Amino acid sequence: MSATVTGMVEPAYLSAIRESYDRVADAYVGIAPARFATDALGRGMLAAFAELVRANGPLPVADLGCGPGHVTAHLDSLGVPAFGMDLSPRMVEIARETYPALRFEVGSMTALDLPEGQLGGIVAWWSIHHLPRAALPTVFAGFHRALAHGGSLLVGFHVGDEELRPEQAYGHPVSYRTQLLSPDTVADLLHDAGLVVTASLVQEPVEGLTRPQACLLARRPAHPT
Ligand SMILES: C[S@@+](CC[C@H](N)C(=O)[O-])C[C@H]1O[C@@H](n2cnc3c(N)ncnc32)[C@H](O)[C@@H]1O
Repeated sequence: MSATVTGMVEPAYLSAIRESYDRVADAYVGIAPARFATDALGRGMLAAFAELVRANGPLPVADLGCGPGHVTAHLDSLGVPAFGMDLSPRMVEIARETYPALRFEVGSMTALDLPEGQLGGIVAWWSIHHLPRAALPTVFAGFHRALAHGGSLLVGFHVGDEELRPEQAYGHPVSYRTQLLSPDTVADLLHDAGLVVTASLVQEPVEGLTRPQACLLARRPAHPT
């Protein structure tokens, strides 16, 4: 555990993520949006997600772990009212500078400060993999709580079963860990949180990456009629 500037005590893994992404943010923004622009299948899942969100009403969508904001902006271009949240203040600063018309906040998906049942959707696009596996049940329970009935969740992650401890990323030292996950494990955890998995996509490694990538679509069940 370590203390934040506000005096709150937080797990050391959150401090490591924040400090690491603050350090790599300026390099990251030169790489990730261009890779996203060529990720046809991932963008297809986002298009399906946006269509489902729009069909469920004009409710906001949270892009959790939004990084420099390009996925938030893409969601906005798909006609859903999206805002971004990230643990790294430097990532949020870049997102605000790049997309001044959109809302971005500093915060953690491990402690969502959102009213219950008000979101039409949540996207966690390559942002859950630095959390310890043991934190995921609580995080997914928070997603379930924040989603409206019928709301959609789209989560993307690196496939595998080991925990990596990289020393460098994007040309800078990092201290976070990377937890690789199997689609079945994530689907089981989502199910346990009360979410219904409706689709999954596994892509073989794309250029610049060494591992398959998975993307699961889920929803909070609609109110029983
Ligand atoms: C690999 S980047 C992905 C950024 C963006 N979603 C994208 O697709 O390029 C991971 C991001 O997740 C953020 N992140 C990690 N853990 C988080 C948490 N607990 N709450 C909010 N953001 C988190 C990091 O700060 C970082 O910006």
